[in-house]
Parts: sequence; structure tokens; C-alpha cells
Amino acid sequence: MFSRGSHLGSSQLQNLLQIKLIFLRWPRPLCTCSPAENKPHPSMLKHLTSKIKSTGPISVAEYMREVLTNPVTGYYVRNNMLGVEGDFITSPEISQMFGELIGVWIISEWMAAGHPEQVQIVELGPGKGSLTKDILRVLHQLRSVMGGASVSVHLVEVSPVLSALQAQALTGSESHVTTEGEEPVYRRGNTPDGLQVSWYKRIQDVPPGFSVHVAQEFFDALPIHKFQKTPRGWREVLVDIDPDRDEQLRFVLSPNATLASTTLIQRREHVEVCAEGGVVLQHLSKRISERGGAALIADYGHDGTKTDTFRGFKDHQLHDVLTSPGSADLTADVDFSYLRRCAGGVACVGPVSQNSFLRNMGIDARLQVLLKNCPDLASRCQLLRSYHTLMDPGQMGERFQFFGVLPLSRVQRPRPQTGLNLDKTQRPAPLPVAGFTELKYA
Ligand SMILES: C[S@@+](CC[C@H](N)C(=O)[O-])C[C@H]1O[C@@H](n2cnc3c(N)ncnc32)[C@H](O)[C@@H]1O
Repeated sequence: MFSRGSHLGSSQLQNLLQIKLIFLRWPRPLCTCSPAENKPHPSMLKHLTSKIKSTGPISVAEYMREVLTNPVTGYYVRNNMLGVEGDFITSPEISQMFGELIGVWIISEWMAAGHPEQVQIVELGPGKGSLTKDILRVLHQLRSVMGGASVSVHLVEVSPVLSALQAQALTGSESHVTTEGEEPVYRRGNTPDGLQVSWYKRIQDVPPGFSVHVAQEFFDALPIHKFQKTPRGWREVLVDIDPDRDEQLRFVLSPNATLASTTLIQRREHVEVCAEGGVVLQHLSKRISERGGAALIADYGHDGTKTDTFRGFKDHQLHDVLTSPGSADLTADVDFSYLRRCAGGVACVGPVSQNSFLRNMGIDARLQVLLKNCPDLASRCQLLRSYHTLMDPGQMGERFQFFGVLPLSRVQRPRPQTGLNLDKTQRPAPLPVAGFTELKYA
């Protein structure tokens, strides 16, 4: 069915979607989570105000980092916020089709790399573990395609609450928190198929090796710096205590240039810069250029066109970012043009809309197969509703974008063998990248 080193062709993709995955489960209830612990957290406000009193106003990046990932009171560290009863819902929680198609993308990139014997699946910010679970099910269904490749799973997750949920989803009771000497892995486990799963706090700690990385709604949670242009030049936006209102925070402008405002603004129109996201992208680039593999980043974002996107979410509603810090998610659109500038020694593809990516990956064929296998009308309606949520331009279809990072060799024309006098046009064309190119059915 698949030849060595070949790209996953369109008819192969169609077969794979129709035949191999036919037994996958459906539907997933929209929410299986326990209610998020959404109460305001006074200790977070107290922590922030005492920090500001002792050091002066803090950057938006520091505010976001403390609110989201402070090891004791951080929003991600304490909460399970995903699902209908939480603060927001994400694509992998909406439909299994999302993770299945990413599973197919991973196999496609593994095949394009020439079927390496070992492959690491690395997910950054895995939430409840649903995406990796759907990916692994596809890999299991397609084990005949994967041959004897040895697969391991590496999860980068800062939250102990969410890592416990991921462990439950992926390993059942087959995981344990590691002892001190085993750092930087803080949890280990095995899937029912015997794949090893390891948890880390930072991407820098994931072992080197051929890896396909997935980051779905991860970059938008990383801290951003905000800047405003003034007659005296760029000034950083900071968070201060409001002197006129008790226990309230407010935005102020730094009186002078800050280190961030002098080093991070690369182009005039940038007013939000996610330096931490840039560091992660640089690290992914290094891993991919040195050891091969790929990264797929899916998030809401823009290509350097938007300015003020910092916002909060609580109970599926917009929430003031400075009110009850620690009780709501804080997020900012991902600037893909900035990520592209941070990449080095790799090729970047996209961003393309979620609608285009999933359509190119064959979501319509997959939907038809699942519809045929739906046991009742209610399940069919649920399936169609989820499809529309993922795909409709007015819902997630246009707002969410896919961005790929690949080895340079993946998109360059291979060099002709020495001695062959071929002109450039006769060299084999680079293989298309699934999802970013429309695959035509033969
Ligand atoms: C918005 S949720 C997305 C979850 C999941 N990918 C999904 O789409 O359902 C962000 C995820 O990234 C994790 N996270 C946020 N900041 C992080 C950081 N600095 N390092 C590692 N994980 C982080 C959160 O704990 C959570 O699992």
C-alpha cells in the first residue's frame, strides 16, 4: 500500500480514512470533565500586589506567567478548565476526527522522512490527553503501515492536575510520579499497547531523536509582552496597583524604554511579542534540523496583522484580564510571522486555516465513514454539529490556523546524483506536505 520513502498519497489517505479507521469510537460526549475550580483566588491577587509593592509595576508577560503557571496558585496548575463545565472547549474535545487526522499527518511525515525506526510523539500542552489518545489509536490501527517502528510518547505539561488527567486517559492506572533522581521526567507510564509515556515541564528536557511535535492551543497560553507607541518612542505596557480602587490592578506605561521594548520590537507594527514562544520555536527548529522530524502548531492567530489580542476567558465568556487573576484563562493570538522569524535552519509552511488543513487531510471522507456507522439519529446530529464547529468559517474554521515546521530537505528539490547532467526542472519535485497542500484523489 505504501512504498518506502513515499509521501502519503491521496488515494492512500482515502483508503486509510475509510478502511482502517472504521471501527473508531463515536461519539465522545462533549464534556467528561469535573467542574473547573473557577472561584476567584484571593491569594493570587495578594501575591501579585505584594510583588508589585516590592519591585514596582510588572510586565504583562510576568503577570501572565504568574497568573497561569505560578507553581502554587497558577490557573493551569490548579484547574481542569477544559470542557462544557470549564472555561473553554478545544478542537480535540469537540471531535475525535481532529486527532485522527493529526495522527494521519504524523504518519505522513514519518513516511516522508523514510520510515525511521524510532519515532517520538511529542505533545506540548496536552490538556486532557484527548489529542494524543486519538493519535495513538490511529497509529495502533495503522501498525501494519508503521511496520516495526518503535513509538514513544513525550508530554510537555506544566500542570500537575492536567498531567494526572492525561495519565488517566493514556495509561489508566499504569503511571507513577517519578522519584527525585529521575528528573527531568516527573511522571512515567505505559499505554495499554505498551508504549512508554514520559512527562516533562519543558521542551528542552525531551530527549533528542526523530520527533513529530504537536502543539494545539499551547502557544496562545505563553506570556506576551505588550508595547505601545508614544511620541517618545515605544513603551512597554505594565501592570500596576490602582491607587484609587482597593484591590484593583490597572495598566500603566513604563516611563522609560525597558529592556523588552528595546530588544523585542522588531517591526513597528508589533505591539504584542511572545518571546517565550520564540524560544520554544527556536528549540523546535534545532531539534528538527539536527535529528529530523516535524512540528505542527495549531492555534488561533494571525500572520503579523493584529495588534491587541490579550484577553481572558471564564465560563465560555470574555473576562477582564485584570479582574480576579487566577480565576480565568489568559490568552493572546499567536503571531505566526514572529514564529517564522524565530525559526532557523528549517522550513516553515502555513499558516493555513483549520478549515483548509482538515479538508486537505480528508475530513469530509472521514465524516462520511463515521456517519455511515452512526447507530442513531442523535449521534448523527452530534457528529454533524461537531464537524460544523471545527470547519465553519464563522466558528473555528477560519480563526484557527495550522503552521508546520519541517527539515529544509523536506521542501527542497533533492540534488541530482553526481555525474548526472540534469537541469533543475528535471530533478524530482519536493514531496507535498499533507494538510498544507490539497491532495487530489486519483
Ligand atoms: C489551552 S490548553 C490546551 C490543551 C489541549 N492542547 C487542547 O487543545 O485541548 C493549554 C495547555 O498547555 C499547558 N501549558 C500552558 N502553559 C504551559 C507552559 N508554559 N509549559 C507547559 N505547558 C503549558 C496547559 O497546562 C494546558 O495543558
